[in-house]
Amino acid sequence: MCGIVGYIGAREASDILVTGLKRLEYRGYDSAGIAVLNGSVKVRKKEGKVSELETVLNGQPVDGSVGMGHTRWATHGVPNDVNAHPHTADNGRFAIIHNGIIENYAVLKKQLAEKGYTFTSDTDTEVLAHFIDDVQKEANLSFAEAVRQALTQVDGAYGLVAVSQDEPDMLVVARNGSPLLLGIGEGEHFIGSDASPFIEYTRNVVYLNDGEMAVVRRNSYEVFKIDGAPVAKEVHALEWDLEEIEKGGYEHFMLKEIMEQPEVLENAMRGRVRLDDNQIRLGGLADVMPQLVNAERIIICACGTSWHAALVGEYLIEKHTRIPVEVEYASEFRYRDPILKDGDVVLVISQSGETADTLAAVRQAQQAGILTLGVVNTVGSTIARETDAGVYLHAGPEIGVASTKAFTAQVVVLTMIALAIGKERGTIDEGTLHTFLQGLTAIPDQIRSVLAQSEQIKELSHDYKTADNFLYLGRGCNFPVALEGALKLKEISYIHAEGYPAAEMKHGPIALIDRFMPVVVIAMKDAIYDKVVSGIEEVAAREGAVIAITEEGNDELDDLCKVVLHVPRSLECLEPLLTVIPLQLLSYYVAVLRDCNVDQPRNLAKSVTVE
Ligand code: M6R
Repeated sequence: MCGIVGYIGAREASDILVTGLKRLEYRGYDSAGIAVLNGSVKVRKKEGKVSELETVLNGQPVDGSVGMGHTRWATHGVPNDVNAHPHTADNGRFAIIHNGIIENYAVLKKQLAEKGYTFTSDTDTEVLAHFIDDVQKEANLSFAEAVRQALTQVDGAYGLVAVSQDEPDMLVVARNGSPLLLGIGEGEHFIGSDASPFIEYTRNVVYLNDGEMAVVRRNSYEVFKIDGAPVAKEVHALEWDLEEIEKGGYEHFMLKEIMEQPEVLENAMRGRVRLDDNQIRLGGLADVMPQLVNAERIIICACGTSWHAALVGEYLIEKHTRIPVEVEYASEFRYRDPILKDGDVVLVISQSGETADTLAAVRQAQQAGILTLGVVNTVGSTIARETDAGVYLHAGPEIGVASTKAFTAQVVVLTMIALAIGKERGTIDEGTLHTFLQGLTAIPDQIRSVLAQSEQIKELSHDYKTADNFLYLGRGCNFPVALEGALKLKEISYIHAEGYPAAEMKHGPIALIDRFMPVVVIAMKDAIYDKVVSGIEEVAAREGAVIAITEEGNDELDDLCKVVLHVPRSLECLEPLLTVIPLQLLSYYVAVLRDCNVDQPRNLAKSVTVE
């Protein structure tokens, strides 16, 4: 998730751009850059925070009243000065900035290379810049028309701004899948991924919809569809303040991140889940697929929430590939002299890509000559760089210390990995694969329907805000969800909570149950549903207050449980993607009622880079 800002007017553009970029840093920042028009396109860009770019600008200022800026959160290529945006084409004649992923960039890059184009960065954005140049020259088009025609041939998501020295009094803007809005001023216009870069100048905004473009000048703007048809837009008056805008209008980043999971999972699957030809395309694993197909064992190492995703991954990979899987706490793996042998693969999972224990597991496996794979969110992070191959989550930066959207994105990526290996090994037939791809594709909308119950969950959280203990129970692939639900509650509300496999309750935890003990039970109607219901009966008999998570249409638990929450029916292995959502919301609302610092809980760091 990158940040975009643009300005055209009478003020000094670079000041507005740099201030705007600082406000957009919450969207991710591995590098930043600006382009300002002043006769020619002047680009300044730098790896690191916006303050690093500011240092560059202090030494090499750029004057001009038309420009654009970008904070990058890498999706293609490591974070460095070269991969930072803006990217230019035709010897710097024009520049573009881009938020999103161009899915067919590899095909376009090959075509352009055959025509003699050369590339200095590893980014899909530079490919798009050269492609626009090629389209413009082939048909001798105006700049805006070249951008438009190029975009009709691009697959993927983009929020894009372009400036050209040939037509210096305009910015060309386009949106498909990445947010962009125009700020409407007097003799000046602004562009932003959100309104934070220009909120002090104007509160009048025009939201671009997917598939729309705009040509923005000082005193006018025209909006049209990518197919060229003009669009009449309404101007909206903003009421939010700066902090509200950065959090997307939510009170906390954690809530924003819970709520954005449908889009996050769509991004994680974009271009990878291909229903039409029944394929999973994971470019990052292409080179190692022969080794993966012949793996004798997969060892998954991770910490915290990522370790819970690993447990779901164990079910998924064993089911679809029949390769034995072991899940290890990375912190334990590194110190217990693990037996590693030919045919083993070590897969690590990390949102940050910087967790010290997980990184140590990678290094230990590599010393033993074992293939290492990373499932990582942060592009260019140490784990992403040091593993032999891997798959990015593309979840955007996760700012709340309590991990939410990374968990569901990790489970989706692990599902895709399991299906891809299973297809290659022949352990999953085409029909079953198709059913799973359909199931995955349906998940974002199904999550939307669970999120729609957030008001109900907020209401019921009042009943639990004074609880001292919670028990979470689940079986099969919902057992890791019970662990995750308990961890979420512990870390942000400071209520003690335990997660258990439901059948283990009678081996000990049942002694804890009385009328003061809320027990969250995940009771989906699968093969062991009846056994889970027996567990609920045992809790109810001891006056425990059961909060059941079950599937839509199941009213059998209504008399037995204090609360029943419903999620849509899905394939069993995909259920964690749905059952975890009410648990995230419950812990969030309980923590808010207890007046806890939800985004930065006490004693915790977002990324644990020390032992
Ligand atoms: O960045 P990582 O995924 O490697 O982080 C692992 C854990 O530190 C992390 O999941 C932690 O448990 C979170 N606070 C959970 O919400």
